[in-house]
Amino acid sequence: MKILHLFKWFSLIFSMLLFAACGSSEQVTSPDGQIKVTFLLKKGIPYYNAEYKGQRVISDSRLGFVLKDNPAFTSGFSLVKKSESTFDETWTQPWGEVKDIRNHYNEMMISLLGANEAELRIVFRIFNDGVGFRYEIPDQKSLSDFEILDELTEFNLSGDHKAWWIGAYQDNRYEYLYTSTPISEMDTVHTPLTMETADGLYLSIHEAALVDYASMTIASLPGNTLKADLVPWSDGVKVKTSAPMKTPWRTIQIAEKPGDLITSYLILNLNEPNKLGDTSWIEPGKYVGIWWEMHLDKSTWSQGPRHGATTQKTKKYMDFAAKYGFKGVLVEGWNIGWDGDWIKNGDKFSFTQAYDDFDIEAVTAYAANKDVGLIGHNETGGAVMNYEAQLTDGFKMYNSLGVKAVKTGYVNYARGIKRMDEKGEIQNEWHHGQHMVQHYQKVVDEAAKYHIMVDVHEPIKATGLRRTYPNMMTREGARGQEFNAWSADGGNPPEHETILPFTRLLGGPMDFTPGIFDLTYEKEKPNNRVNTTLAKQLAEYVVLYSPLQMAADLPENYEKNLKPFQFIRDVPCDWQDTRVLNATIGDYVTIVRKDRHSADWYLGSVSDENSRSLDITLDFLEPGKTYTAQIYRDADDADWKSNPYAIAIDETSVTNMSKLTLKLAAGGGTAIRFKIDN
Ligand code: NOJ
Repeated sequence: MKILHLFKWFSLIFSMLLFAACGSSEQVTSPDGQIKVTFLLKKGIPYYNAEYKGQRVISDSRLGFVLKDNPAFTSGFSLVKKSESTFDETWTQPWGEVKDIRNHYNEMMISLLGANEAELRIVFRIFNDGVGFRYEIPDQKSLSDFEILDELTEFNLSGDHKAWWIGAYQDNRYEYLYTSTPISEMDTVHTPLTMETADGLYLSIHEAALVDYASMTIASLPGNTLKADLVPWSDGVKVKTSAPMKTPWRTIQIAEKPGDLITSYLILNLNEPNKLGDTSWIEPGKYVGIWWEMHLDKSTWSQGPRHGATTQKTKKYMDFAAKYGFKGVLVEGWNIGWDGDWIKNGDKFSFTQAYDDFDIEAVTAYAANKDVGLIGHNETGGAVMNYEAQLTDGFKMYNSLGVKAVKTGYVNYARGIKRMDEKGEIQNEWHHGQHMVQHYQKVVDEAAKYHIMVDVHEPIKATGLRRTYPNMMTREGARGQEFNAWSADGGNPPEHETILPFTRLLGGPMDFTPGIFDLTYEKEKPNNRVNTTLAKQLAEYVVLYSPLQMAADLPENYEKNLKPFQFIRDVPCDWQDTRVLNATIGDYVTIVRKDRHSADWYLGSVSDENSRSLDITLDFLEPGKTYTAQIYRDADDADWKSNPYAIAIDETSVTNMSKLTLKLAAGGGTAIRFKIDN
């Protein structure tokens, strides 16, 4: 035993001397050799840098932590071990924007000893489309419970790149319009943070597998340096944890074309495989709901003569859903707690007791007869203690009533989350700190036990956890359609949907709630409107991916416009393949997707406030087959502002040799179904 022990120490000291002699610079490249990451130890401080095709993308950038009352992981490191490996597998998504995903990377694991012999590992995974790295703190004698005061991770960029960003620590959480400035002019921002370099490269910094840790926001420091800024607990500590633990992955996606960011699956690849086992109960689908009418003030969430969520109205929505092929009906305001100021009084919500005029047994029985499901709505007002106390009872009850999906909500100020601490005192936590990361995970775990799919409004950001927990379907987490109903700034400008796919949606699906046909609602909301053409509303179903996709408008507006509505009825929300045909971030994007369950392809193309023509080749279609292209386009005189309803619906026969010119109006779009001919 003793000899073995001595030998262990001898080899440790020997490898430390060896690494010191070699200058502690270790490299790993992507499988195609185009990306190279170097790990360096300079005077006991760890750094990394990254190159793409021989060009510096990230200069020496610091790594490490400041722990509370413990110098272990800041400086004074020595390198004790390095190991390398390669991984290559193709895995299948139970649902998604693409069916099969190749997960191919080279890994380098660096093991460091810091003060008090504490061990810190840094694992780099280099893919052809970018870099992921994370810290691992193994089980060890000198460290058990510890608190992180700061994560020192930096991204020292090669220039003052143009970035699309939304500010962190703002009351409306992620619900802001994107600002585009050089990084030197950024606030502290949320991720995904997407950038364009002067050389025309596209970079996006984000994180993968955010579990039991604080969200990473990004602070902009002088000299083109970005630094991880973890959202703190109320006492200022960033992360409370214990060894062994692994941090989320810090990710840098690298692309030559903006569209390649969209078809990069690096974030998903860095998440653990499915932990739920059988996923046959998880089904993507489209839904309608008693929702938009409240946003237009046509009915109320609260009780009273204009209460929206009545048994009778819900049955009508269910009839509509069944008639036109929708799988779900979302009903907001069905449960006790909406009367009065529900944002202040979130702890009054019951998640099991319905209002008197909503007979939940009757509507779920009615739904079952029509092969439609009730989507339960759980607005928490951010009162997560109240919600967590009822989670199990609520989900148990929904499951017994055949409810397969729940849409949750957390309207409150960014720091309005109340938590009871160990002393029984109430603390205000940030919406994006470790406490809420834990909460959102608790909901997903509990929902899975009762076979419930989750769609989250006011979520924590998406970091690819849907791979591990495939019932975590979709979330809003950005400015969605609803801002067009009431936002004092006039709603989402036409460029909004040309930015979202390259920013928010790189994290994961977004329940944007597209499909508004009454674009101007002058009677209900004279100062608001949707700032797109009608054809663009259709295109959003393809451009803004979500496995639960809403037809957000009122049934009567669809019944008045059955021809364009046909596209919403046809378009799937579970895909075999996804490709981006053209894109300029903030100007336009054209995406095609192949249906997972048929040979048909669908196209969505959206423009900002400018009209434009885009030439495309249909070489994505299967060779030797003919298709009928059902084209829903802006009419020649359409314009989002002055003539938004002008839509032309044409049919033409195409093959994979065909070319089309898409003519998008200002604020416009095109949607196409390529229906295979038998
Ligand atoms: C705020 C959300 O933004 C909205 O969509 C929802 O209808 C209300 N909360 C009620 O939950």
